[in-house]
Amino acid sequence: MKGFGFATHGGAEQLGSVDVPRPEPGPGDVAVRVAAASFNRLDRFVLAGIPGVPIELPHVLGSDGAGWVEAVGVGVNDLELGDRVLINPGLWDGTCPACIAGIECQCRQFRILGEHTQGSVTDRVVVPRRNVHPIPPGLSFEQAAAAPLVFQTAWRAIVTIGAVAPGETVAVIGAGGGVATAVIQVAKLRGARVVVASRTAGKLAAATALGADATLTFSEGRPLDRVLWEWSGKQGIDVIFDSVGAPTLPRSVRALARGGRAVVIGATAGPVVELDVRTLFWRQASVRGSTMATRAEFATMFEHLVAGRLRPVVDQVYHREDARAAFARLDAPDLFGKVVVRVSADA
Ligand SMILES: NC(=O)c1ccc[n+]([C@@H]2O[C@H](COP(=O)([O-])OP(=O)(O)OC[C@H]3O[C@@H](n4cnc5c(N)ncnc54)[C@H](OP(=O)(O)O)[C@@H]3O)[C@@H](O)[C@H]2O)c1
Ligand SMILES: [Zn+2]
Repeated sequence: MKGFGFATHGGAEQLGSVDVPRPEPGPGDVAVRVAAASFNRLDRFVLAGIPGVPIELPHVLGSDGAGWVEAVGVGVNDLELGDRVLINPGLWDGTCPACIAGIECQCRQFRILGEHTQGSVTDRVVVPRRNVHPIPPGLSFEQAAAAPLVFQTAWRAIVTIGAVAPGETVAVIGAGGGVATAVIQVAKLRGARVVVASRTAGKLAAATALGADATLTFSEGRPLDRVLWEWSGKQGIDVIFDSVGAPTLPRSVRALARGGRAVVIGATAGPVVELDVRTLFWRQASVRGSTMATRAEFATMFEHLVAGRLRPVVDQVYHREDARAAFARLDAPDLFGKVVVRVSADA
């Protein structure tokens, strides 16, 4: 089976068509014929190689996908062949103490489709039944493939880990990433006042259209902590969603309110930061990490998606033959939302 990925870790020059075995569903599994898939920043990290994460080569990229049920394993009897489904890329064993406690994203064996397993930019993906969800009417395959990873991450980061309460202020650092476009919507749904801070003004109108109450630009001359502090009327920000990392997190922390929370889910621009802990103890603030979501959080997020209260943001859709160009789009300065690949011509 052909997929889009790489046989050797490295940069974009390694990307191309790879051959991997066509997977068959075991008991309790569902085989999905992929209609559309989408990229995440994670795919870049997987291509480069993540220390401590051994992967099988060649490797197919892509964590997100949507398509048709093509085959089911023994014990799956609540789906019809041809049903339109999207895939939750979070994989858990269901048996460890964290899973039994309902915190599947802290599973001892937690894995992500496309990172620890072969990915979604290919003809067929096999996952457990609990990882597929019927696509709500009105959502295209492209929109469905844009949703699962970023919306579950945003949900847990904002609702559970950030514990955002109605009326609180939420700052989103970086405007264009897929997760940012989901975080803006989830934070608004929770009744927060949302400010989006970007290096460039160009994407801010789109952030406003998604529901942001205010937008800011920052630069060396207009440091992030200062613009946020001023915007907050010198009270600080209650929850700051920072997935940029090294260049911004120390300044995000300085802009926190008393009792504020900086929520970290990634570090696109570098993982090692220097923090002034005096801000943390004096303001009784914290830095909290979050990854993916529990099964219950996914289900709640999904209800909002079905009801249309959360809307996947698709930056651009590419044909499968143009997957390399799609991948390159992840680094475009004007990227806003998710980069989607139409994997099947039938989609
Ligand atoms: N833990 C999890 O479960 C999880 C889930 C999803 C994603 N992640 C991680 O979260 C991060 C965000 O992913 P993403 O795909 O949404 O977005 P992304 O493409 O990694 O970038 C998000 C935004 O960060 C800003 N940015 C990038 N480099 C910057 C720099 N050097 N200085 C300042 N700002 C910079 C940009 O905003 P502006 O251009 O607007 O300034 C960009 O739009 C990634 O690191 C990803 O791996 C983790
Ligand atoms: Zn587990």
